[in-house]
Amino acid sequence: MYKLFFNLVFKRMDPEEAHHLAFRWIRLAVRIPVLRTFVAAALAPRYKELRTETLGLRMQGPFGLAAGFDKNAIAIDGMAMLGFDHVEIGTVTAQAQPGNPKKRLFRLVPDRALINRMGFNNEGSAAVAARLATRHEIFRTTVGVNIGKTKVVPEEEAVADYVTSTERLAPYADYLVVNVSSPNTPGLRNLQATEALRPLLSAVREAADRTVPERRVPLLVKIAPDLADEDVDAVADLAVELGLDGVIATNTTIARDGLGLASDAALVKETGGLSGAPLKQRSLEVLRRLYARVGDRITLVGVGGIENADDAWQRILAGATLVQGYSAFIYEGPLYARAIHKGLAARLAASPYATLAEAVGAETRKAATA
Ligand SMILES: Cc1cc2nc3c(=O)[nH]c(=O)nc-3n(C[C@H](O)[C@H](O)[C@H](O)COP(=O)(O)O)c2cc1C
Repeated sequence: MYKLFFNLVFKRMDPEEAHHLAFRWIRLAVRIPVLRTFVAAALAPRYKELRTETLGLRMQGPFGLAAGFDKNAIAIDGMAMLGFDHVEIGTVTAQAQPGNPKKRLFRLVPDRALINRMGFNNEGSAAVAARLATRHEIFRTTVGVNIGKTKVVPEEEAVADYVTSTERLAPYADYLVVNVSSPNTPGLRNLQATEALRPLLSAVREAADRTVPERRVPLLVKIAPDLADEDVDAVADLAVELGLDGVIATNTTIARDGLGLASDAALVKETGGLSGAPLKQRSLEVLRRLYARVGDRITLVGVGGIENADDAWQRILAGATLVQGYSAFIYEGPLYARAIHKGLAARLAASPYATLAEAVGAETRKAATA
């Protein structure tokens, strides 16, 4: 049904326009009490066995919406209504910015992929903080806040820029993510080098503790799939050293591997980050590598090419406590999160593991001892 609708309507529209249209419908539906109750009952069924405790938080399940879909925190309840157990808003930057010129989002339909060079278009951390401060929660959901660097701010002043956003947003964040991995802000990914990352993460940690002394806001870092393996290890070691709460693996890739021949060659050449199915393999590899390095010492979040319950289950077995998706939501539609939950509950029941927590990393541990 959704596939037909996608082909008849969304596919004929500019991808960014389609995104805004879908967003408007979600926001409208959540404003109508009878409708939202009905939709949530249908799409966000709860499975007791999927309840997840991590980062000092209790979540209904492990599956959430990846950053970039709700950059300005305008549809948290709408996304919760559709069954996402956590919603990561952002990336938010200290200053409001328009992002890159349009067109900047491209669909590679035969490859079930997207290329984007949005460039952190967002209203800025002051506006987003004001919105979060006055939010009346309808559906209980975990809200992650993902922060990045303002484009016009030079790399030498990046730390202060992240600190400003932290001071404004940490009070409303169930967890905070330092994004140093988007390919669409020049120089941003240089911050993944440990010499740059150490002072950045330390300053954000200090700012979060200073701004929210009554609670320890969990802090995570989101990394690129394009890091060399040794750099993945270096980030993992740094995360443990600094007492970070988690690592999110991964953001989009600048590589163009894993694409079939069917996608339009001109589209494949568009600059930006590739996401969706072609990213699956590398994101999984990075996750496995991280888990092999850090084990259960920090929380790992698996993201990149998660299309169905099999993919989500594979990430959990590889070491992810939480999993996220974005691109497949565009292709799969409103039943996406529901299908993942249902499938995860079935896979857990059929597995040798008594709880989801027991399944986390089981395959990677097995491979290490084999
Ligand atoms: C259009 C678009 C915008 C995105 N914007 C952000 C962003 O602002 N911040 C971020 O950390 N990740 C952003 N991402 C990356 C996603 O959060 C995710 O890491 C990536 O797309 C891989 O997951 P997927 O294959 O399920 O899409 C964006 C992805 C897309 C497709």
